[in-house]
Amino acid sequence: MKYGFFDDNNKEYVITTPKTPLPWINYLGCTDFFTLISNTCGGYTFYKDAKLLRMTRYRYNDTTPDTNGKYFYIKDGDTIWNPGWQPTKTELDSYECRHGIGYSKFCGAKNDIEASLITFVPIGDPVELTKVTITNKGANKKEIQLFSYVEWCLWNADDDMKNYQRNLSIGEVEVLDSTIYHKTEYRERRNHYAVYSVNTPINGFETSRDEFRGAYNGPDKPAAVLAGKLNNTIASGWYPIASHQIDIVLAPGESKTFVFALGYIENPDDDKWEKPGVINKTKANTLLSKYQTSEDFDNAFAALCDYWDNLLRKFHIESKDEHVNRMVNIWNQYQCMVTFNMSRSASYYETGIGRGMGFRDSCQDLLGFVHLIPDRARERIIDIASTQFQDGSAYHQYQPLTKKGNSDIGSGFNDDPLWLIAGTSAYIRETGDTSILKKMVPYDNDMSVATTLMEHLKRSFDYIVTHKGPHDLPLIGRADWNDCLNLNCFSEHPGESFQCFGPSEGPVAESVFIAGMFVKYGREYAALCKLMGDSSEEARVLSEVDKMIAAIEKDGWDGEWFVRAYDAYSHKVGSKECDEGQIYIEPQGMCVMAGVGIENGNAEKALNSVKDKLDTKYGVMILQPAYTKYHLELGEITSYPPGYKENAGIFCHNNPWISIAETCIGRGNRAFEVYKKTCPSYIEDISDIHRTEPYVYSQMVAGADAKFHGEAKNSWLTGTAAWTFTNISQYILGIYPTLDGLSVNPCTPADFGDFNITRVYRGVTYNIEIKNPNKVQKGVASLLVDGKEIKGNIIPFDSSKKVVNVTATMN
Ligand code: BGC
Repeated sequence: MKYGFFDDNNKEYVITTPKTPLPWINYLGCTDFFTLISNTCGGYTFYKDAKLLRMTRYRYNDTTPDTNGKYFYIKDGDTIWNPGWQPTKTELDSYECRHGIGYSKFCGAKNDIEASLITFVPIGDPVELTKVTITNKGANKKEIQLFSYVEWCLWNADDDMKNYQRNLSIGEVEVLDSTIYHKTEYRERRNHYAVYSVNTPINGFETSRDEFRGAYNGPDKPAAVLAGKLNNTIASGWYPIASHQIDIVLAPGESKTFVFALGYIENPDDDKWEKPGVINKTKANTLLSKYQTSEDFDNAFAALCDYWDNLLRKFHIESKDEHVNRMVNIWNQYQCMVTFNMSRSASYYETGIGRGMGFRDSCQDLLGFVHLIPDRARERIIDIASTQFQDGSAYHQYQPLTKKGNSDIGSGFNDDPLWLIAGTSAYIRETGDTSILKKMVPYDNDMSVATTLMEHLKRSFDYIVTHKGPHDLPLIGRADWNDCLNLNCFSEHPGESFQCFGPSEGPVAESVFIAGMFVKYGREYAALCKLMGDSSEEARVLSEVDKMIAAIEKDGWDGEWFVRAYDAYSHKVGSKECDEGQIYIEPQGMCVMAGVGIENGNAEKALNSVKDKLDTKYGVMILQPAYTKYHLELGEITSYPPGYKENAGIFCHNNPWISIAETCIGRGNRAFEVYKKTCPSYIEDISDIHRTEPYVYSQMVAGADAKFHGEAKNSWLTGTAAWTFTNISQYILGIYPTLDGLSVNPCTPADFGDFNITRVYRGVTYNIEIKNPNKVQKGVASLLVDGKEIKGNIIPFDSSKKVVNVTATMN
């Protein structure tokens, strides 16, 4: 069952009922100022950091009710309603929500009044703009009222939801004309405030939530709206809000348009006040003056659309498969931008107060983002590397505002260092910019111990070399990619964090997954050494890689698939010897992607085992059989009920690893079958089962053992976005950036047909035509570059050209 449809021409998903199974959200904002907005106008706004600079409140544990947001109420006689249906939930005569790329549109109608909203964050300004157009569709004059509503968060979202004994006394606002200023804590250590303004004189305002709602009322029945009159209260403490009242008279057929602006302003410390107690509004006035008319709004909106058109042009496919076209050209790349911006910090499932920028997560997000805005990727690599420790290990996360690492969600995850190599290598393959390797980068933000980024990569690599266990495989530390496989934790008491409890190191527990990573990214590091002319380091690295391959072949192979790990007693995890958890997806994907087992046939065996034992119609499960009881020696993974999350869920992030691995052994049919199973557009028809947004990936789909098999959770912020884009663009469609130039080597289903790709790479536009006359799954028989046949798959990079035309014929 569907709740809407894709409008590919406008790059929108159109939701036709407000009653979606879960809130279906969108992200507004590209760089610093962000809003999450659901299909019923729920959501929250922050500047740079969802924890430290939260502007509007989110209600926790409220995903489905979704009762707080940036709302507009219309009072028409005795009826009050919202164009996005929430929070009054008054039945509408018509409703539509269009989530687009960086904007959302809503259109609701009731009793001959139509209200349409467009909302977005303009490029370059810390403000969210909403144009509200109210039209009288009836034959009679209408006298109605429009009310806006946002609830301020007192900046630190974590403290805001806990520390009522202080916070209920600190709220402060100012109001001048049509602008409401939120200035809590501005009198002391903050130098920033928020504004909510509208480009028309108002008939009233409200800044106290209790006055707005009336005692014991929720946002669905605000007393002031029902009464048709705001009381012009200046809040002092309690719950500050911002609401405007606009009384409107509309002749039949007449429309009126208003532009609302929700902005963030920073002042220099010595220029905070206009006069004692009155904030300096100069910067706010400058910002608001830019968006005073509908034309201002429309121009800024057009600039946003151009911005995105230019970005999405960097990779564009035309094939006969509309799902692939839509996901590759629009939604998958868009989600890559969002995951790059947010890491795992702020969604409807990530509260913005828990996880900041993940070291591992952000490195992987780069893989799907780097082609869009390489300069931002460069900055991110430096930020991430700056939180690394001198021994090569890493904090697991850092706060976006301070850019400082912290151990709030643990550290000592031994895969982390290698992801830095993955992200850096992807950046250099994309851009050719080796200057980044020479840049001096601090450790733990301490510039006095800075080294080159290349030295950071060496320390990443060497951290694994110097942290091996009894089988010469990498020690796992707290966990590897699978945060929940905690082999050194041994937590017995509820409330202990599996990621922070106990020793972060153990001398015995090992990870075959990290071994696979070490081979894959060790080789990429070696290639960078070669590029930089360091052949002795290259040779050393490759010999360490060979040792690791030998260790995997000796003790990491279980006969039909790769072992997952060895626990703290040196017992195998993910082996036929185990009662439960006999086979895990991660080492199968990673080892084959690294090339391990391709020559001796183990890769094929491992992937056949994946198909036999882990496949479902909704995707490939992370392990089987599911753990049915808690294992002290395995940790959080066994804490989940069977079929959910890391305990035998379909963890979408590593499905593309299997798909990529299949392309490594040339099986395009199977690679694409795996791609399709979790691809949002392909499964739009089962939105009632899947439940999360049909235009983006979710972290997890419940596995075969779960009660709700096929139901997804944790949409938007997942490494699935970057890995899937890597999979489809670089492996299935086969346009892979190498250090020397673009490689063309597709691995598609036999019947995928011919296709054309436009790829902007290092400033050159490649128009690539791929023909597959004999319906093969892999293999390029001829490659013509500007009419000349070249040997091999790599188009040599030539910066003197602006456009290169390529024809590849598969056979
Ligand atoms: C985390 C990832 C981790 C994955 C598997 C996600 O929630 O953000 O870092 O690799 O779970 O445990």
